[in-house]
Amino acid sequence: MTQTISLVEVGPRDGLQNEKQTIDVATKVALIERLADAGMKSVEGGAFVSPKWVPQMAASDEVMQKIKRAPGVSYPVLTPNRQGYEGARAAKADTVAVFGAASESFSQKNINCSIEESFERFKPIIEAAKADGVRVRGYVSCVLGCPYEGAISPSQVLPVARTLYDLGCYEISLGDTIGAGTPKETKALIKLLAQELPISALAGHFHDTYGQALSNIWAAIDEGVTTFDCSVSGLGGCPYAKGASGNVASEDVVYSLERSGLKTGVNLDKLIETSLWISEQLGRKPGSKVTLARSA
Ligand code: HMG
Ligand code: MG
Repeated sequence: MTQTISLVEVGPRDGLQNEKQTIDVATKVALIERLADAGMKSVEGGAFVSPKWVPQMAASDEVMQKIKRAPGVSYPVLTPNRQGYEGARAAKADTVAVFGAASESFSQKNINCSIEESFERFKPIIEAAKADGVRVRGYVSCVLGCPYEGAISPSQVLPVARTLYDLGCYEISLGDTIGAGTPKETKALIKLLAQELPISALAGHFHDTYGQALSNIWAAIDEGVTTFDCSVSGLGGCPYAKGASGNVASEDVVYSLERSGLKTGVNLDKLIETSLWISEQLGRKPGSKVTLARSA
C-alpha cells in the first residue's frame, strides 16, 4: 500500500512572520487560498500573538475572516495565551497551536515566560478549545538546538512534548528552530520520544538553515513519522532565532516524497506556480531548488 505523508503548510505564518516589508491582507489571503487549492490539507493561517512582538501577524484576524475555506482543509493559527485564543475563536479558527520550547532561554525570549509557566498558560486554552470543539496542536521549539543555549538533548525535549500531549494536544510538532540538526540526531530524538508518545502524534518541523531539513524528514520517516511542516518557497524564520532561515521548501518535500512513491496529495505544478507568485510579491528569488529548476 502507498504510504501517505501529511503536510502542514506553514508559509503564511512561519514564512511571513519575519518579513520586514508590509504584506497586505489580500496577498496573505490569496497565498492561503492558493496553497489549499494546490492540495495542502492544513494551511497555517496566522498567529494571534502580540503585535508588539510580531508586527507582521497583526492582521491575522482579518486574514482568517476573509479566506474562503475549502472543504476538508484546516487552517490552524498560533495562540500563546487566553487572549490569543479568544481572538482565534472570534475569527472562527478550527485548530489552534500552542507553542512551547525545550529550552528555557528560548521560552523566555519567544513567549516571555518559563517552560513551566507556559504549561499553565496553555491549560486554559486547551480546556476552552476542548469545550468549543477546536483542535489544539502543540509545538516544541529548539528540539535539536537553541540559538541561546546551544545543544539540547532529547531528554530535555521529552518532558515538554509529553506534557503538551498529556494536556490534550493531538499532535506535537518538533521544531528544529535553528535548522542545525542532522539525520542521526533526528533519529535519536524520535527514538526516545516514541518510547513514551504514539509515533502518529509526532510531526517534524525542520528549518533548513544548514541544508539538513529534507534529510531530516527522511530520517524521521524511517522512524515512522508521517506528518511534516513545510513552507512554500522555503519562506520563513523566527524573529527570536536570529539568522535562522526558512522551513524546508514545500515544493522540495513534495518532489522528493512523490518521486519516491509516497503520497502527499499535493499538486506540484500548482505549488510551484504559488511559489513563483509569492516570490514575485516579495521581490525575491524562490527559495526552493525544485521551483528554480522547473522555472529555469
Ligand atoms: P507579554 O508582553 O508578556 O504579554 O508577552 P502580557 O500578557 O504582559 O501583555 C502585554 C501586552 O501584550 C498587552 O497590551 C496585551 O494586551 C498584549 P498593552 O496593554 O501593553 O497594550 N497581548 C496580546 N495582544 C494580542 N494578542 C495576544 C496578546 N497577549 C498579550 N495574544 C506574549 C507575552 C506571549 C503575548 C508575547 O511574548 C508574544 O506575543 N509572543 C509571540 C512570539 C511569536 O509569535 N514568535 C514566533 C512564533 S513561534 C515560532 O516561530 C516557532 C515555531 O515555528 C516552531 C519552531 O520553528 O521552532 C512555532
Ligand atoms: Mg518555525
